[in-house]
Amino acid sequence: MARLQLSITALNETGYGVGQKAGQTLTVARTAPGDQVLVSKPQSADRWSRADLLQVVHPGPDRVTPPCPAFSRGCGGCQWQHLSYPAQMAWKQKNLSHLLRSQAGYKGELHPLVLATALQGYRNKLSLKNALGKLVFVPEFDGSTLAPSECAVQTPALQAAWAALQGIRVPMVIEQLHLRSNAAGQVGLHAFVREEKGFDAALRELWTACGWAHGLGATSRKGYRAVAGEPVLAQTLGRITWLLPHNGFFQTNAVMADALLALVTREAKAGRTNRLLDLYCGAGFFGLALADLAHEVVGIEENPQSVAAAEASARYSGLTNTRFLAGDLGAVLATLEKPALATNSTEIAVVDPPREGLLPRAVEALVARAPQRVVYVSCHAPSLARDYKLLAKAGYRGVSCTAIDLFPHTSHLETVMTLER
Ligand SMILES: C[S@@+](CC[C@H](N)C(=O)[O-])C[C@H]1O[C@@H](n2cnc3c(N)ncnc32)[C@H](O)[C@@H]1O
Repeated sequence: MARLQLSITALNETGYGVGQKAGQTLTVARTAPGDQVLVSKPQSADRWSRADLLQVVHPGPDRVTPPCPAFSRGCGGCQWQHLSYPAQMAWKQKNLSHLLRSQAGYKGELHPLVLATALQGYRNKLSLKNALGKLVFVPEFDGSTLAPSECAVQTPALQAAWAALQGIRVPMVIEQLHLRSNAAGQVGLHAFVREEKGFDAALRELWTACGWAHGLGATSRKGYRAVAGEPVLAQTLGRITWLLPHNGFFQTNAVMADALLALVTREAKAGRTNRLLDLYCGAGFFGLALADLAHEVVGIEENPQSVAAAEASARYSGLTNTRFLAGDLGAVLATLEKPALATNSTEIAVVDPPREGLLPRAVEALVARAPQRVVYVSCHAPSLARDYKLLAKAGYRGVSCTAIDLFPHTSHLETVMTLER
């Protein structure tokens, strides 16, 4: 097999090491800046191409022994296990700065990254696939399986649940099982079911085998159903409790959710005269937590189940100034009535879209609405950079930006940017 010698000089936003060879830029997984490596023949002759790591000849200064034993066996669940935490942080900050400053023209403040307080045991969500009756974690790289005790980023409750599932044969009609844990150590299960035939029997069998689980829900072509046990898993922070169906979205980093809320609260600067728009609100994570600070909260979310969860959670937490609307963000925002607020009152929008960022009709509706302040929470910086340019063109000014490390050992980054009109 052809082998090339390569020096890795940088890490790109997707977590790959980057090096130059004969006019080509090669990206190589599992490498670190300063590494001298042997790589395979590039996958293409294009100016940019992937190549596979064959051997680390001389390790760079930031390379560490991966704390996770499965990483060296090929697990790609976390792609930066071989990088020291300070180096992970430095590259996240550097790549974000390049994207926002050089590519998007952002001129506001760029604060230092908020570091993760726990590098292990933080992840409260786990997805397992059914491989011939056995539930396995399928990492990105080579499909080798992972033992529950090896995956140290999962919460202890999920590690224990995963271990308990190892001894179970799962009916083939169940394609995937998602698990969520909460601070009380309860675990909710959600099954994705291939077809209706055999649905009831399969789920009964699964539930019987999972005496330790808090509840079981399932999705089939007919939609979501609560199947057995408790229909919701409660997640509590401060005085708010979110009651989430077992397929409901909640911040995946259980340990840092508080820090993210504190950051968004600080940036929103909501006051008793403000109406807070919680856009892409999911089950109302930001809206419910900030409700006491604002005159009124209006959330918009396309998933009706999440909207129902937000409403139930507001009632449960004793809030009376929130409402949640189901539908496409652009369409609902465009028709939302203007607030009947006192003079000098303003609208503030917390915007937390999926990875793709804002769709054109959402940008249009937001710009037409013209909230005084927009706090944009992004889990994909390239989408944020693109949307920032559009909002800047429409009269918004980027004031401040802070990234927060919700996903240690990966190249993923959560970024909170505040824009003002
Ligand atoms: C990153 S999640 C944020 C959820 C919530 N802010 C939280 O922190 O839990 C993005 C949310 O946007 C919703 N969504 C995606 N596309 C949408 C659209 N076109 N209109 C409204 N909501 C949408 C998804 O269902 C999801 O709940």
